[in-house]
Amino acid sequence: MGRFIVNGGLPLYGKVRVSGSKNAALPIIFASLITHGVSRIYNLPDITDVKDALGIIGEFGAEIWKEGGVTFIDTSKLSYTVPSLGRVERIRASTYLLGACLVRFGRAELLPFGGCAFSKRPIDMHIAAARSFGAELSGNKLTARKLSRADISFRQPSVGATVNSLIMASGTKGETKLFGVAREPHISALISYLKGAGAEITVLGDTLTVKGGELHGSTAVIPGDMIEAGTFLAASLVTEGRVRVSGFDIGELKAFTSPLLSAGTIADVSGGSVMLVGKPKREISVTTGAYPAFATDLQPIFSTILASARGGSIEETVWRERFGYLVELSRLGLSYSIEDNRLTVFPSDVFSGRASATDLRGGAAAVLLALRAEGESIIEGGELVLRGYDSFAEKLRELGAEIEYAE
Ligand code: EPU
Repeated sequence: MGRFIVNGGLPLYGKVRVSGSKNAALPIIFASLITHGVSRIYNLPDITDVKDALGIIGEFGAEIWKEGGVTFIDTSKLSYTVPSLGRVERIRASTYLLGACLVRFGRAELLPFGGCAFSKRPIDMHIAAARSFGAELSGNKLTARKLSRADISFRQPSVGATVNSLIMASGTKGETKLFGVAREPHISALISYLKGAGAEITVLGDTLTVKGGELHGSTAVIPGDMIEAGTFLAASLVTEGRVRVSGFDIGELKAFTSPLLSAGTIADVSGGSVMLVGKPKREISVTTGAYPAFATDLQPIFSTILASARGGSIEETVWRERFGYLVELSRLGLSYSIEDNRLTVFPSDVFSGRASATDLRGGAAAVLLALRAEGESIIEGGELVLRGYDSFAEKLRELGAEIEYAE
């Protein structure tokens, strides 16, 4: 257990470079299990989800080492195991074991896959996809002597089901077609890793055509984390500071920045970095959705901007119940109401106090409010934030925040 101790009320100033994206790194780590050889991963973020993912593939026999800033993964010699449930339960990306283990070992187990518990998180589309490739489900075991090519149409875009299907398609001989896939930047990063490993993949809108087979080691450069970028841009606005954020593709954050700019915030973009200046002057309404729509993972973060300005509403369509974190933000003064899947945030005079991280993004949002509120706040459950933010307290301190992380 860890906590952030924040002495808030100070505007943040300076420059921050975001780390590699969690949700790009995790699929690539698990996809390495279907390759035979050594992969090189650049820009892997130093976060606990990545440590858990590396720990899990290590249990299958992957050898992992670091040289300079590069992580090497050798998957030449692997053997099937049931990995430690502690790790599996902590991270959502452990679901990617389904596809990876079916390809590599012809078997996989439905385990208590974890991750943020902000909503029910079904995996029916992952299982249906595995069955389309010829896997059979008996109890909690999936088995397939040999996977065969498939045509799969997803009823809605799912990051996880797309990742698992891409992994299975890339490790299966023949041409697979995937219709209605998720198009998040992390899917593009996985595609580029799998292509480097020998899979032939073409992308046409939300349709993927994959010719798979035996794969070799590959190289991945983990792209900058757009959710971390949105978090630091929000920290700047919420504390009324001036923070320049770099290391990511600003185009990926369009659905986050556009409504702010329409409401009077100014974007200062130069040399691959961006700074947002001036709080929104009007109420803002956004609706979350699959990429390129407004990212659900920025919903808790955005609520802190709304509370610090003129308020507004967020309709949550991806995880309709993703509002559990708000009780904690209200302990720091955030005022809100929820009707069905619509959150309304009112302009709020936030104050220091104690709150808990209920999940990764909700915890980061609590830290942002604590940075705005004058006086000392304590955010418990800080370890949940470290699942997805590399050196969070350190980066904020560089920007002038008074914040410590204590175990
Ligand atoms: N869904 C189903 N059945 C399935 C799979 C998904 O109904 O078999 C539904 C879900 O209930 C949800 C929607 O499809 O309504 C989208 O879920 P998706 O599968 O895309 O989510 P995920 O793969 O479990 C990833 C991220 C989440 C992020 C979502 C949406 C990772 C490791 N996790 O989850 O990230 O919220 O996509 O973008 O990539 C976070 O980083 O804080 C985080 C929670």
